[in-house]
Amino acid sequence: MFTARCYGRCVTSAEGTRLTAESRHGLAVLASGTGSILQAMIDDGLPITVVLVDRSCRAETVAETAGIPVARVIRSSYAADFDRDAYTAQVVSVLLPYEVALIAMAGYGTVLGESIHDEFPGRIVNTHPALLPAFRGWHAVEAALEAGATETGCTVHFATLEVDDGPIIAQEAVPVLPGDTAQTLHERIKQVERRIYPAALWKLLAELETSGVS
Ligand code: GRF
Repeated sequence: MFTARCYGRCVTSAEGTRLTAESRHGLAVLASGTGSILQAMIDDGLPITVVLVDRSCRAETVAETAGIPVARVIRSSYAADFDRDAYTAQVVSVLLPYEVALIAMAGYGTVLGESIHDEFPGRIVNTHPALLPAFRGWHAVEAALEAGATETGCTVHFATLEVDDGPIIAQEAVPVLPGDTAQTLHERIKQVERRIYPAALWKLLAELETSGVS
């Protein structure tokens, strides 16, 4: 069972609202965590039309404080029988009324199924706290430390059905310092993400605008 609640400006797709490709210009941000990357996007003035979360998290407060509508598609099961396709369908129907040209995942904790890629082909991007293809997965920072890496970093990339895969848009290295913990290293990586991710999103939005398909 999924719950979807919208705050602020929200029109349900049940009303038949479906924006045409021409009217889509906004950015949807998907988050599950503290929302510090989201905060950087807000501070940079990106045209965020909705923040969607899959659980109760600080990112909700970040969005609400900025006056951005929050959509909650709460993931109620983490079991193997989690219905990814049904969950994804719900996410898509919640996003559709928000004039979404581009979807930015910023620490979003649920892998989404095929239907969102069908609805937003080539328009879903992600940031990952490692230099992909190294250290894929949810614990990328810990993995870099455990591997004894002297350098890691972050990667902004197009999202595909494969987790932490897809064409790379931007990458920047971050040194691993003596005495680093997962927390200190991740925070230094996030400092870079807060800079390169908004810049990459502006560039992609501008390209969509220029190509006339946003
Ligand atoms: C970022 O490091 C992102 O790459 C990872 O989750 C983190 C999100 O941080 N997938 P925050 O919640 O925005 O602080």
